[in-house]
Amino acid sequence: MSNRRCTVLICQGTGCISGGAEQIFSSLEEEVTRLNLGESVQIKRTGCHGFCQRGPLIVIEPESIFYSKVKLDDVPEIVQSLLPEGKPLERLFYHDPVTGKPIPHYGDIPFYNKQERTVLRNCGHIDPEDIGDFLAVGGYEALRKALFDMTPEQVIEEVKHSGLRGLGGAGFPTGRKWEACRVAPGEEKYIICNGDEGDPGAFQDRSTMEGDPHSVLEGMIIAGYAIGAKKGFVYVRAEYPLAVKRLKIAITQAREEGFLGKDILGSGFDFDIEIFQGAGAFVCGESTALVLSIQGKRGMPKPLPRPRTAEAGLWDKPTLLNNVKTFANIPLIINRGWKWFASRGTEKSKGTAIFSLTGKVANCGLIEVPMGITLREVIYDIGGGIPGGKAFKAVQTGGPSGGCLPASFLDMPVDFDSLITAGSMMGSGGMVVMDEDTCMVDVARYFLDFTRRESCGQCIPCRLGTEQMFEILDDITKGQGRPEDIELLLELSDAIIHGSLCALGKTAPNPVLTTIRYFRGEYEAHIDEKWCPAGVCRELIKEKGSSPETVGRK
Ligand SMILES: Cc1cc2nc3c(=O)[nH]c(=O)nc-3n(C[C@H](O)[C@H](O)[C@H](O)COP(=O)(O)O)c2cc1C
Repeated sequence: MSNRRCTVLICQGTGCISGGAEQIFSSLEEEVTRLNLGESVQIKRTGCHGFCQRGPLIVIEPESIFYSKVKLDDVPEIVQSLLPEGKPLERLFYHDPVTGKPIPHYGDIPFYNKQERTVLRNCGHIDPEDIGDFLAVGGYEALRKALFDMTPEQVIEEVKHSGLRGLGGAGFPTGRKWEACRVAPGEEKYIICNGDEGDPGAFQDRSTMEGDPHSVLEGMIIAGYAIGAKKGFVYVRAEYPLAVKRLKIAITQAREEGFLGKDILGSGFDFDIEIFQGAGAFVCGESTALVLSIQGKRGMPKPLPRPRTAEAGLWDKPTLLNNVKTFANIPLIINRGWKWFASRGTEKSKGTAIFSLTGKVANCGLIEVPMGITLREVIYDIGGGIPGGKAFKAVQTGGPSGGCLPASFLDMPVDFDSLITAGSMMGSGGMVVMDEDTCMVDVARYFLDFTRRESCGQCIPCRLGTEQMFEILDDITKGQGRPEDIELLLELSDAIIHGSLCALGKTAPNPVLTTIRYFRGEYEAHIDEKWCPAGVCRELIKEKGSSPETVGRK
């Protein structure tokens, strides 16, 4: 390595921290001080670099050397390698699992090179606790542009033309929501950033808030200017203490630099942001429940018919509620223009999608991909395929409200509409990969267990229907299923979808419906032959080789 000045970036995302990244950070600082290298070596913390499976991660710039699975013991050698006569440590490189070839630069690793990291462009590259880093990469330029070169209406037009759809699950056109809020009567208006993220297996909003909090704040301030609001809230669940901490630091720094508070940058526009910590109920992510929660009431969706939050939200005032990633996209759209944004993705789903890729896949982590990429590219190229020579069985997208899709969908493009057509959904961005050792009845049971517990209980179809579905699934996995159970599950699903008050109930049957649709043979094996083909349901495990014909039957 040369004797040029270099920066050692240490991922301090939640995953890497759990692997000891904080201690590695301190130890690197101490070692650099001990060897008096402060002039040529800078040690920096960053947010999540994405490849959580291989943490703790270190990147050395400007060469973009990538070290994974770093241990505290590696620190002295890493620092030695930064000396003028030093060489990068090959043993810490990523090694191609097939060829065994070392890959020194992260841009050459398949996990990274098929991604399109635009919203996540700063995550893993800047110190989220230092506004100077954010400003150095053009942070708050979009705010300046919006305030001084654009009218609020022009900002909304830009967002509308970009085709951005909300990334919190439903995919509602963002510009239309902003416009509805702007024209809604009333002087007092609010902005809410939804960082509740209750879906099991999802961590993309958390990583965005932890890794690049200023981008989220900048998007919110621009939204405030566009709709005419003076106050915003970030709703974060209290189980996300690192996100809360970094958002608090970011808010304080933004105030000090004049990006928040009174008369922002001398424009005459006043706007401030407060953090609200939720107690961690999945239903509080639903917009009307979230609004009540901030007001100090029990978080339950409002009964129908109800006005839209854009017209009557917080304290019945017009309120713009968007997801974390939706806000983080806004500075990019303002800076680079709607045409750039609309040029990526598919006809009806523009831009990128961010997924937490987890489960039975070789490379787990946080990924950002262009909308329209196929599931195969995500799972096999970026995810590196299924470990242990096992076969792919299904992928679950959309969290508990989504569905499980079999191998026949691997070449389907990932976008809002294709996923819904297949019976699943984009949701907030969880993507759980399952291999041949997964029992699909057990998976459906797992998600139903989650939704029945998280139902707010206010409407009967959701409260009792999900409970009843869970009991049927539980019976099936215990060998007590009856031949009529599949039809009963379908009937109950229909009643819950049509009778529930909010989307928690309306989508709760999705995992059951998709597993019946695509893996019916497994239900039949459990019910008719008292046998679990995947060998998961304990009461129904039979000797290998004694498999009845239902195996692999759809
Ligand atoms: C039960 C339930 C939970 C939800 N949880 C979240 C969540 O955690 N984060 C989120 O952004 N949206 C969540 N939503 C969707 C929100 O109600 C809302 O549509 C979204 O935050 C709007 O932002 P967007 O337009 O940017 O997508 C949830 C919806 C339901 C029904």
